[in-house]
Amino acid sequence: MKALVLSGGKGTRLRPLTHTGAKQLVPVANKPILWYGIESIVAAGITDIGIIINPETGAEIQAKTGNGERFGANLTYILQAEPAGLAHAVKVAQPFLQDSPFVMYLGDNLIQDGLESFLQQFHDNGSDALIMLKSVANPTAFGVAKVSAEGQVMELIEKPQIPPSNLALVGVYVFAATIHEAIAQILPSARGELEITDAIQTLIEAGKRVDARQLSGWWLDTGKKDDLLEANRIILDDCSATAIKGDIDDQSQILGRVSIGTGSRILNCTIRGPVVIGQDCHLENCFIGPYSSIADRVKLVEADLEHSVVLADAQVVGVHQRIVDSLIGQRVHIREAPRRPKALRFMLGDDSQVELTP
Ligand code: G1P
Repeated sequence: MKALVLSGGKGTRLRPLTHTGAKQLVPVANKPILWYGIESIVAAGITDIGIIINPETGAEIQAKTGNGERFGANLTYILQAEPAGLAHAVKVAQPFLQDSPFVMYLGDNLIQDGLESFLQQFHDNGSDALIMLKSVANPTAFGVAKVSAEGQVMELIEKPQIPPSNLALVGVYVFAATIHEAIAQILPSARGELEITDAIQTLIEAGKRVDARQLSGWWLDTGKKDDLLEANRIILDDCSATAIKGDIDDQSQILGRVSIGTGSRILNCTIRGPVVIGQDCHLENCFIGPYSSIADRVKLVEADLEHSVVLADAQVVGVHQRIVDSLIGQRVHIREAPRRPKALRFMLGDDSQVELTP
């Protein structure tokens, strides 16, 4: 068994963060989204893993993620030169996959369920494909399955205008080598991509065995800001444990599950968990509320922040209103004039969003 992790997409829905970095490296609870998928694959006993990258962000993903040693796996990077769809990525990876069955994992998806029982079912049934489904409120944004009363997949449609059900295709799939023949038969969709959904539909029409399982745990597709904040909330709720390595002065109060990395200094702050703070941060006169993740080398002085993700090297200094539901990119600086400012001065990248709420 092998695995293929797709980490090529452009991340248009997470701009401006993704103008300068890969969406799969945006951290959730201070760990790149992509790494959760790799860890889940390794936990299911698969260590031969191909990672699809694109020419724009591939080098960054490779530099940060490495050869797989940190996961106890062997990672092979595979370049997809053009964003021509998920099925196209499998085509490009065929020399790596050969005739092996494989798990395909979209690098911006996170699922709570472990993969072991899915792999067991795939082997026991001798399936050609096993797909995972989850009921969602907005099925038009996903691939959608029509499933019979017995749980048999009848039809799959990519981003349907009139969805046949509310069961979305989760971005984690298990395939036998027969998927390659199906991919060879499909044509680009209306959005110009070779859709994996169409390849699976081809398997169904050829009478191959396509099974489906509904996920019992949560599923997060972290492609947008609010989804990313939700992923951050859930992961912090599920996984964070107290681990204090930095220095905290006597004036500070730490409540609930809070982890603070080495070299970080906390002066006169109240931190109410779950919160993770990376290494070499400087926090002074701050309130940090629940569900906040603060990456390495962040400086927060006189700031009040909750339910937010702050990326590496950002600075928030002297902002006297509470910052909520925010995603603050790398090296961003936010400052406020003392008292009520007469004017606001900005230097914001393309697609930045600022809300000055009353
Ligand atoms: C892709 C798949 C879609 C699936 C979704 C899950 O969509 O094409 O079937 O439901 O991932 O995240 P995309 O992210 O390319 O819009």
